[in-house]
Amino acid sequence: MAAPNIETIVSLAKRRGFVFPSSEIYGGLGSAWDYGPLGVELSNNVKRAWWRWIVYEHDEIEGIDSSIILNRLVWKYSGHEATFHDPLVDCRKCKQRFRADKLMDEAGAGDLREVKCPNCGASDWTEARPFNMMFRTTLGAVAAEDDPAALAYLRPETAQGIFVNFLNVQQTMRRKIPFGVAQIGKSFRNEITPGNFILRTREFEQMEMEYFVRPDAPHSKLVDEWVEQYVGWYTGLGLSRDNLHLHEVPAEELAHYSRRTVDIMYRYFPERPEEERQWEELMGIAYRTDFDLKSHSNKPADAEGKRINPDSTEDLSYFDETTKERYYPHVVEPAAGVNRSVLAFLMDAYSERTTDKGETRVILKLHPELAPIKVAVLPLAKNKPEIVGMAKAIKRSLQPVMRAVYDDTGGIGKLYARQDEVGTPFCVTVDHQSLEDEAVTVRDRDSWAQERIKVAELKEYLQARLKGPVPVGLATEATPATEPPANVPAG
Ligand code: GAP
Repeated sequence: MAAPNIETIVSLAKRRGFVFPSSEIYGGLGSAWDYGPLGVELSNNVKRAWWRWIVYEHDEIEGIDSSIILNRLVWKYSGHEATFHDPLVDCRKCKQRFRADKLMDEAGAGDLREVKCPNCGASDWTEARPFNMMFRTTLGAVAAEDDPAALAYLRPETAQGIFVNFLNVQQTMRRKIPFGVAQIGKSFRNEITPGNFILRTREFEQMEMEYFVRPDAPHSKLVDEWVEQYVGWYTGLGLSRDNLHLHEVPAEELAHYSRRTVDIMYRYFPERPEEERQWEELMGIAYRTDFDLKSHSNKPADAEGKRINPDSTEDLSYFDETTKERYYPHVVEPAAGVNRSVLAFLMDAYSERTTDKGETRVILKLHPELAPIKVAVLPLAKNKPEIVGMAKAIKRSLQPVMRAVYDDTGGIGKLYARQDEVGTPFCVTVDHQSLEDEAVTVRDRDSWAQERIKVAELKEYLQARLKGPVPVGLATEATPATEPPANVPAG
């Protein structure tokens, strides 16, 4: 089973220290959320799992970490200044502001006049007008806030930091096409209607990868291959395939840089009666052509003698030493959201189980790699110093290799229940007998089965079991994790 709705996760997340509403003591900020002690572990584990997979397990991918604030010209030539807009409308009656396209989507309407205001029920809208979603800021000590020379933006995608570093990475790492560059980092969008917990916020984190290929590579096939790899990654880490859905983005809805995009959607709204309204984008895989590298390049004059990008100091084309060709590589981009991944993993891991006494327990069946705490060490008798001492020593011995906690703030039943609810795969109980036989009881979160293990063997035992199931489609014989997607071989 998965969570019945996002609200169940909102309440669990707050109750157990995963995610808190931001600045709550001042009434909150609507669209902002803070990750608590367990949330930051989960989110770091998602990012670590992605980095290990995408950068370490793909031989042809490098990682970088570029700035959040880039030269404003990056956003001019990326097209974001001119086109990164959402259509904005106001309700004339209650003055609330909405995204026109979302209103129509959600109401299944072809015309805004058919849509009622979700706030007051009226249907009296202003004309839709474009609203640029980039956050503006000013750099340095400037006289006027709106001094155009000081204007800068917080990045709305991490991708541009990769494009402007294309040659730096290619040359320093001596890379040949095809190769990819990955990055994880915060992005910012002044969303008109943020909402649904961490699904749509104004500040969020992305895990993006730009995969540079020859212009004549089979781009559509590459998009399909990356879709398959990501479905494998997500299902390998616990998402049910039934809760993922592939959406071919219609031509009229493509972003300005994309010639084809497939969105991997997650069933974030299982409670909605209509199947088609249950899905929201988890990530997208786009074929961006050579749009970005070309538009950031100081290209020679065109037929009319006009230079296309006079502001850039570089030509970001690539010279193929083997074929002696010079070209602008094309790009296939898998772009995933950290926060949306965290939410999907939480929703899919959620389950309930009824005890013999008829009590309902929540069990978060997170993949061991993602679980915020890997093992909790619990003393059966907290008043017995030898047992407490032994439990604390075991916790300390495990800590260098896995996140371990010690807890003695309740009876054993309550302690187990608490760990189940936050997804801890194993509990280790130290009891009176442990003092004699140097062994402990290891309890499994999902089956509640218990096993007696020698303390001397505990670390290796847990490490072996924490590896979890082999991610589907990633490490099978047929598709080794390191195999790059197909590409037209150079020359
Ligand atoms: N570089 C391409 C790009 O940014 P996108 O589809 O706009 O593509 C990629 O964003 C991913 O970033 C989305 O699939 C989603 O997971 C995440 N994302 C985008 N906007 C978001 C928001 N306002 N809140 C949370 N996550 C967001």
